[in-house]
Amino acid sequence: MTARLAVFGNPVEHSRSPLIHEAFGKQAGIDLHYEKVLVNDGDFEREASEFMKLGIGFNITVPFKSAAWQFVDHCSDKAAQAQAVNTISRDSRGILTGDNTDGEGLVRDLVCNLGWEIESKHLLVLGGGGAVSGVLGDLLEAGPSSIDLLNRTHEKATILAQRFGDPRLRSIEKNSLAAGYDLIINGTSAGLSGEVVDLPAHIVGDQTCCYDMIYGDSTTSFNHWCLKQASCQVSDGLGMLVEQAALAFRIWFGIDVNSTRVIKLLREQL
Ligand code: ATR
Repeated sequence: MTARLAVFGNPVEHSRSPLIHEAFGKQAGIDLHYEKVLVNDGDFEREASEFMKLGIGFNITVPFKSAAWQFVDHCSDKAAQAQAVNTISRDSRGILTGDNTDGEGLVRDLVCNLGWEIESKHLLVLGGGGAVSGVLGDLLEAGPSSIDLLNRTHEKATILAQRFGDPRLRSIEKNSLAAGYDLIINGTSAGLSGEVVDLPAHIVGDQTCCYDMIYGDSTTSFNHWCLKQASCQVSDGLGMLVEQAALAFRIWFGIDVNSTRVIKLLREQL
């Protein structure tokens, strides 16, 4: 029987998730159909209930991760901490469980694919919205010395940092930024509209690794800015996208897939 899966979002047309999961399905020998569901404001619960009459699970993207967290019967500790769900599955008792694989997907890309270190390092995370709240738990678990959180709206970052209750994570103002962070992660949506976050040059040094959680067919505006400040290393978020999908695939089918091959495939198609 064909396994029915989907990604819910708005917009969702651009989503590469069908391609990724179809590639995983081929690798694992699983017959699956993965669709894109464009959900209108206020329709999430109705559409989700309808889909789960036949579907085995689905992914959730912007702007419904918080609605998905409220929708599920039960959620993982990660999803509860993030207050956001990106993967829904049904367990053997029919209970809908929400998970969040974004943070682990990011850490896997940083550490396993790129070979960058987090343990004992000084991190700067930019942003304070849904994307950042979904990854902070896993970043803290990876053992950094500190995570400075900087957001345009300082108050939002302060509330977010307090939620984690970890002394290594603190919300800072622009005038407290350190020089030459080990790792800078851009979790703002500024780049989606071609904007660049206004930042002082000294935060990037030659040893800094810079990661933009968004991706595109050319260097993202944030990575472009970083490369102008120093001869740092940069990466976009394509690997994170594939890794969070691989983790969702494992939740649904209990199978570990080869993500490297799929990252390569996607990169070629950008
Ligand atoms: P997402 O789910 O992608 O995180 P979001 O919850 O709307 O979307 O959050 C977007 C993030 O990008 C926020 O941290 C936002 O800053 P504010 O909290 O001040 O709104 C940040 N952001 C968006 N455009 C930005 C810009 N031009 N400069 C700086 N930060 C920006």
